[in-house]
Amino acid sequence: MFRDKHIFISRREFLRDSAWAAAAAAFAAAFQERIEAKQKSPTAQAQAAPSAAAPDPQSARHLPPVRIGFIGTGTQGQTLLQRLVRVPGVRVVAVCDIYPPHLSRGIQMAGAQATSYRDYRRLLERKDVDAVIIATPLYLHAQMAIDALQAGKHVFCEKMMAYSIEEARRMVQVSRETGKHLQIGHQRRYNPIYAHAREMVTEQDVIGKMVHVRAWWHRNSSWKRPVRDKQYEELLNWRLYSKYSQGLMAELASHQIDVVNWFTGKLPVSVMGMGGIDYWKDGREVWDNVEVIYEYPDGVKVVYTSILSNQYDGYAEQFMGDKGTLLLTNEKDGYLFREPTAEELGWDAKNKTVGKGGVTGIVLDVTATKRRGTGAVIGGQKMAAGYERKDAYELELESFVHDVVRNGQKPLCDAEVGFQATVTILMANKAIAEGTKVTFTPEMFQV
Ligand SMILES: NC(=O)c1ccc[n+]([C@@H]2O[C@H](COP(=O)([O-])OP(=O)(O)OC[C@H]3O[C@@H](n4cnc5c(N)ncnc54)[C@H](O)[C@@H]3O)[C@@H](O)[C@H]2O)c1
Repeated sequence: MFRDKHIFISRREFLRDSAWAAAAAAFAAAFQERIEAKQKSPTAQAQAAPSAAAPDPQSARHLPPVRIGFIGTGTQGQTLLQRLVRVPGVRVVAVCDIYPPHLSRGIQMAGAQATSYRDYRRLLERKDVDAVIIATPLYLHAQMAIDALQAGKHVFCEKMMAYSIEEARRMVQVSRETGKHLQIGHQRRYNPIYAHAREMVTEQDVIGKMVHVRAWWHRNSSWKRPVRDKQYEELLNWRLYSKYSQGLMAELASHQIDVVNWFTGKLPVSVMGMGGIDYWKDGREVWDNVEVIYEYPDGVKVVYTSILSNQYDGYAEQFMGDKGTLLLTNEKDGYLFREPTAEELGWDAKNKTVGKGGVTGIVLDVTATKRRGTGAVIGGQKMAAGYERKDAYELELESFVHDVVRNGQKPLCDAEVGFQATVTILMANKAIAEGTKVTFTPEMFQV
C-alpha cells in the first residue's frame, strides 16, 4: 500500500471532517444560476476561446515570473512539465513526487532552481509558490487541490476533476470560498480545432439539426504498466484498482463527454450502459470495456464506447446532423461530411477534401475553412495564429499562467465545467454498476 498515512487522511475521514452537506446547500442556489446562465448562452465558452491564446508571451518575459509548484511528475506530469517550461514568464520552483525515479525526472525537467519534495504539504507552505499544478492519480486530486486552494494558490488540476461527486463539489466550493481559481485539464477546451468545430455546429448550422453523437476511444493494450519492484504495483498501476480509479469512463470518456456537454450546451437527461472485465483477466478491478448511451435534451442520443482489445477505430468524437457529420479524430484532425441532400455551403469547394468510405469530406482547418457565404474567418483562426506548433496542453498551460494566474481571469475550463463532467461520468459508472438507467436531476449538478 503506497498511500502515506501521514500525508493522507482516509476518504471517510475527509468526508466526515468536512461540513460539505451544509455548504452544498448554501451554494446550490448561486451555482444553479450560473449553470442556467451558461445554458442560456451556449456561445459563451466558444467566444471565450480566443482568450486562451490572448497572452502576449513575449512581454511576459519582462515581468516577474509566475512561480509554480508541480505535484506528480509521472507520465502526464512530464508531458505538462515539458511544455510548461517553454511558457515565457514561468519558473518551476518546486517539484513533488513520492516515486523517486519520477521525482528525479521532474527535477531534471524543471531546472536547477527547483527544490524537490516528497510531502506536497511542505511544498504548499512555501510563500513563494503562486500556483500549483497537480498531475497525481485521480483519488488524490480533491485533497491536494483543496489544500492548495486553502494555502492561497491558484490550481491547475488534471482531469477527471475528482474521484467522487462530493469531492468535486467541495472543490468548486473551496475555489469560491478562497477566491482562488481552479482550472481542470480537459485540454480540448483549449484546442483551436474544437473551438472551430463547435462554432460550425452551434452557430453556423453546418450539420443541421443534430440528434446523434458518437464518441469512442479504442485501444489494444492492457493499460497495465510492467512493474519490477512489486511494492510499486498499486502506485504505478493505480488506474486498474477501484480505490484509486474510476476506470475508462474517468480516464478517457471524461474528455470526450465533456466535449458533448460543451458542444450541445446542455447537460444529460439520463444514462444507461454496460461494462465488464471480459478480456484482461489480470486482477484488475475496473472494466476493460464500457458501452454507454446518454440522452440529452431534445432527444439527442450519445453513444460512447471504450475498449482495450481492438484499436481499429482509434479515438474520435462524431456529431451527426441532418445536413452533415462532423468528425474530430486524434484531438487534432477535423472533417465535415455533407449529406447528399444538404445545400451548398459556398465555401466548401475551396477547401481541402478527403475521401472516406466513398464520401468526400472537407478537412477542417482553423485558418482556411471560412464562414458560409460571408468569407469571414471563424473564431478558431485567431486562436491558432502563431500557435501552430503548440498542442492543446501547451495552450491550456499558457492560459493558466497568463490568463488565470497573472491576469486573474476565470479559467475557460473552470471548476464548474470539471464538476459537470464529473457528474456526467460518474452517473454512467453508477448506471453500469447497477444495471439501471440513471435519470439526472438538476440537484445532481448543483454545488
Ligand atoms: N489530460 C490528459 O490528456 C491526461 C493524459 C494522461 C493522464 N491524465 C491525468 O493525469 C493524472 C496522472 O496520470 P499519469 O498517467 O501521469 O499517472 P502516473 O501514475 O504516471 O503519474 C502519477 C504520479 O503521481 C505520483 N504520486 C502518487 N501519489 C503521490 C503523492 N502522495 N504525492 C506526490 N506524488 C504522488 C506518482 O508517483 C506518479 O509519479 C491522472 O489524473 C490522469 O487522469 C491526463
